[in-house]
Amino acid sequence: MVFEPVSRRSFVKFAGAGALASAVPAAFAQRTAAAPTAASQNDFAYQEETRARRLAWWEQARFGMFIHYGLYSLIGQQEWAMESEGIPIPQYQLLAEHLKPNPDFARQWVRLAKRAGQKYVVLTTKHHEGFCLWDTKLTNYNAVRQGPGRDLVREFVEAARAEGLRIGFYYSLMDWHHPDGAVCKTSPAARKRFVAYTFGLLRELLTHYGKIDILWYDEPWPLTPEQWEAGRMNRMVFTLQPEIIVNNRNGLPGDFSTPEHKIQAAHRAWESCQTMNLGWGYQRADQEFKSPRILLNDLASCAQQGGNFLLNIGPEPDGTVPPQQVSTLETMGRWLATNGEAIYGTQGGASISFGNYDNFTRQGNTLYIHVYFWPAHTPAAQWLKFFRPPAVVAVGGLNAKVLSARLLKTGRKVEFTQNEFSLRLTGLPEQAPDHPVTVVACQCDRPPVVDHHRIRALWPRYGAGMPG
Ligand code: GLC
Repeated sequence: MVFEPVSRRSFVKFAGAGALASAVPAAFAQRTAAAPTAASQNDFAYQEETRARRLAWWEQARFGMFIHYGLYSLIGQQEWAMESEGIPIPQYQLLAEHLKPNPDFARQWVRLAKRAGQKYVVLTTKHHEGFCLWDTKLTNYNAVRQGPGRDLVREFVEAARAEGLRIGFYYSLMDWHHPDGAVCKTSPAARKRFVAYTFGLLRELLTHYGKIDILWYDEPWPLTPEQWEAGRMNRMVFTLQPEIIVNNRNGLPGDFSTPEHKIQAAHRAWESCQTMNLGWGYQRADQEFKSPRILLNDLASCAQQGGNFLLNIGPEPDGTVPPQQVSTLETMGRWLATNGEAIYGTQGGASISFGNYDNFTRQGNTLYIHVYFWPAHTPAAQWLKFFRPPAVVAVGGLNAKVLSARLLKTGRKVEFTQNEFSLRLTGLPEQAPDHPVTVVACQCDRPPVVDHHRIRALWPRYGAGMPG
């Protein structure tokens, strides 16, 4: 395919065409008619009233795949290369001719997500670089008119549906390529065009690909929520996709928060997004990958506090997922196949505090103790007799009485003792029975909460100052 550089002038033309076209489509008019009336009466009432229902599947899911793929993948130095390395637009856009994903790229991604036990997939349909992975009519800077010659979003959507995965579209509001993307900050005329362009692109994404489950906005620079008309934007989104959930990065609170590179619980739905090495987009030289054990701990930490975990892959130029990312996800998936009940559908609030070698999730009256570092043969056993069994997992400050305990890996019953201070799992093998993490499920007499701070208040009644 011959690449025609997109001139400033043709861009204005495309953007203008988009603004016009966006007023028309029949499909949109039909959907508007069918939309919930509350949405058209009030920007937020519809969103508030339906939030719990719309979020229900997502709160069960707990674990999703983030995919960063675009022209930046060809450079292999993360997705910010265009700006952080100061690459001029006429140069950068030459890459568009060379993006040639494998015929099977999307199936590889979603099958990997499936093997990993991830329940939804979120793809960068347009990152900050401005290149659109779908068949947009509003710019020729897109995957159909440039190198791929294919609608990559459509292939992704079809592949994800075939695997029964929920579908998310990441969409960057910031756009380094569009001629109005920056000047819209100061020029009202440019803003008008750019907002219309943005609405037009979102409308295409949410009209032409069937049911979409998540809209994952990113980076509202350089406009304020008012200038983006973010309320009207969300209203359009819900009109087109009444069951969708939206995040908080168009400047409005949305349905869920998005702590990045960190786990930070909120008093609302939240999802922590994380990379396996340092970059979101492919970074060839970075081989510093987090281990499956650390990532499973992150996943459990999110579940412990009632949040989701969106774990990223940064595919190579042809769409291949770097082998280290594949093997990590497969390890996580194998673990989830046995231990899934300790993650999926769990409710937050299992613990107010972390253990030294373990973590906690809960579902109803069941407490799941995730043991990362197997505690066995402490030298202190020669002095403290409760450490004498070969391995003892102890949990201080559990509020509930344990009725029975079992290893998720084998189903084997685990012997234990419990007093008001501590639950001690004593009937454990010397070596960790599961890898990278062993989970013990404890059936309790009430919804369990672990809070070792409770112990402090109890010390005086526990023979403080007594000999022995
Ligand atoms: C940030 C970065 C972006 C990345 C995103 C993922 O906003 O700018 O590169 O896609 O976070 O959360």
